[in-house]
Amino acid sequence: MKRRGDEFLNVAAHELRTPILPILANAELLRDKIKTGSRELDTIFRNAVRLQQLSENILSATKIDSNSLTIQKEEFDLNTLIGQIIEDEQHAIEKRNLRIVFVPQTSNLPVLADESRIGQVIVNLLDNAIKFTQEGQILVTSEMMKEEIVVRVHDDGPGIDPQIFPVLFSKFASRSPSGTGLGLFICKKIIEAHGGTIHARNSSAPGKSGAIFTFTLPALR
Ligand SMILES: Nc1ncnc2c1ncn2[C@@H]1O[C@H](COP(=O)(O)OP(=O)(O)OP(=O)(O)O)[C@@H](O)[C@H]1O
Ligand SMILES: [Mg+2]
Repeated sequence: MKRRGDEFLNVAAHELRTPILPILANAELLRDKIKTGSRELDTIFRNAVRLQQLSENILSATKIDSNSLTIQKEEFDLNTLIGQIIEDEQHAIEKRNLRIVFVPQTSNLPVLADESRIGQVIVNLLDNAIKFTQEGQILVTSEMMKEEIVVRVHDDGPGIDPQIFPVLFSKFASRSPSGTGLGLFICKKIIEAHGGTIHARNSSAPGKSGAIFTFTLPALR
């Protein structure tokens, strides 16, 4: 019974992706055409992106549950990927008093990893930071430390609810009315499938609140 339920979810999430792509592409084209900006178009765009991410997350979660999450490794520069994702995410916060700052500590970060899956991790971490931070800054850093690549996402939000810490990376651990609680579960599985680690803590620095998520990936040798 559970398997049939998973299969249904898998097919539904897959089918959802097909109509979302042209909605997104056309909203993007229109946005480029209407230089003055449009609140209605922004709403369409934001929700189409949300729908796309949701279907990606559901697909990944069903794959994790059936042990069929595949990792296709290739060599790429992690800083370039982070930069591209941040550029896309800037659109979502354009009109808010919030900005994402990327400070790579090491200029080139070649990795052997699944680029789209690592992208999914970064998107999920940034989405959370954007969702839980009313205003201020989201600081993203990346660096090579010994044999590891370390990426950090530090936001200015209220920090992680202490009650959720023990189950933070479990499925459906959500404290957000609009959340499904799949994001961090997927992040952990993807990072671990690459031989890396992921953890979270709240900032203890005076005057700087917020959540800090850190993931590592083995450096390319
Ligand atoms: N940056 C953050 N600041 C504060 N709390 C956070 C942050 N990131 C995650 N959390 C907490 O961890 C919970 C689980 O996060 P997760 O990304 O797995 O789910 P979600 O964001 O609620 O839903 P989904 O990612 O599936 O849309 C969140 O609901 C929230 O309580
Ligand atoms: Mg999330």
